[in-house]
Amino acid sequence: MSKKKVLVTGGAGFIGSHLVDALVRRGHEVRILDKLIEQVHGSAAPEHLNLRAEFIQADICDKEAIRRALDGIDVVYHEAAEVGVGQSMYEPERYMRANTMGTTILLEEIRLRRTQIKKLIVASSMSIYGEGGYRCANCGDVAPPLRSVEQLRGREWDIKCPVCNSALSPISTKEDKPLFPTSVYAISKQDQEQLCLVMGRAYGVPTVAFRYFNVYGTRQALSNPYTGVCAIFCSRLLNDRAPVIFEDGEQSRDFIHVDDIVEANLLALDSDGADFQALNIGTGVATSVSEMSRMLAEGLGKDIQPQIVGEYREGDIRHCVADISRAQRLLGYQPKVSLQTGLPELLEWVKMQTATDMVDHAKSELASHDLVH
Ligand code: UD1
Repeated sequence: MSKKKVLVTGGAGFIGSHLVDALVRRGHEVRILDKLIEQVHGSAAPEHLNLRAEFIQADICDKEAIRRALDGIDVVYHEAAEVGVGQSMYEPERYMRANTMGTTILLEEIRLRRTQIKKLIVASSMSIYGEGGYRCANCGDVAPPLRSVEQLRGREWDIKCPVCNSALSPISTKEDKPLFPTSVYAISKQDQEQLCLVMGRAYGVPTVAFRYFNVYGTRQALSNPYTGVCAIFCSRLLNDRAPVIFEDGEQSRDFIHVDDIVEANLLALDSDGADFQALNIGTGVATSVSEMSRMLAEGLGKDIQPQIVGEYREGDIRHCVADISRAQRLLGYQPKVSLQTGLPELLEWVKMQTATDMVDHAKSELASHDLVH
């Protein structure tokens, strides 16, 4: 495998920094472009910032910085994004600017260097699906829309068949399920994916979009209350407070360890098998939010029961778990880290952290915008 010059946008962040470390370990020359957003990093650069990578602190919309960042680069990993789903609903301009416009500006510069850039790999998200795949005993496989407001107000959490209204069973979600993003964040992620695939194809830059499922691992921003459920629960438990569970806790997600995400990214660097494709990167295993809360409390040695509040957040889906057969077939991808090994590793790190619990603040902010009911 030849050594490459690699740019990682968002390379100071949770996923980006793990990817940078793995690339550096393999002997690649790595450059990071990252704004060090205060909501994620606080006021200082993170300790995990890899000193063997070159670092450019800049906004993804800063054309001049992007030009400098792309100088001499063969491969671009585009991981930079604003990531708060709920927050995107009341700060839409911020999210569309960083995610959609930032990607457009990056692509404009990649287009001008299309013979130089040999590969573009972009972080997309399972959130672009909306609800995952389901099966109806009468109607077969269906792709239901979000639950209606009336249904949610009646605290009926389970999804019904859009054709015959009977109960549905969740099944794994394939890439060809119709996309139905349910937040500004998800729309911007769909934009990132499609902009990269369309421009990559038009200008002959081999491009891969990875639809990450719910990623967990060390370096998650525990004090950022706009992050995913696993980090939020860790922050609550660390502060001896009960995790707050929306709906009834039986909603499920596909939790994937960050090392498996990194592995998929490395596979795409060395193979052209997934070029110009969008691929799910998950584990194929569903875990309920209640079960996650229980495992985290147990792992941290906290005898704290979650509060199941029976409220719901606007735009939340019920279930989504990955069908990973495309990534297995095209890249030989195989997740290696189960929750049984990944969570203890996460929690060893969590125990050494201090997290400011801002979750109540974030929840009341959502409520003030009428986004939690
Ligand atoms: C998450 C990420 C999203 C990412 C996607 C796929 C966030 C906010 N969401 O989306 O960026 O693209 O995975 O990787 O980072 N819940 C609670 N209590 C809480 C928080 C959440 O019960 O305190 C529940 C939610 O109601 C939901 C489930 O946990 O049912 C998952 O929520 P969350 O992790 O926020 O978002 P996802 O939609 O799965």
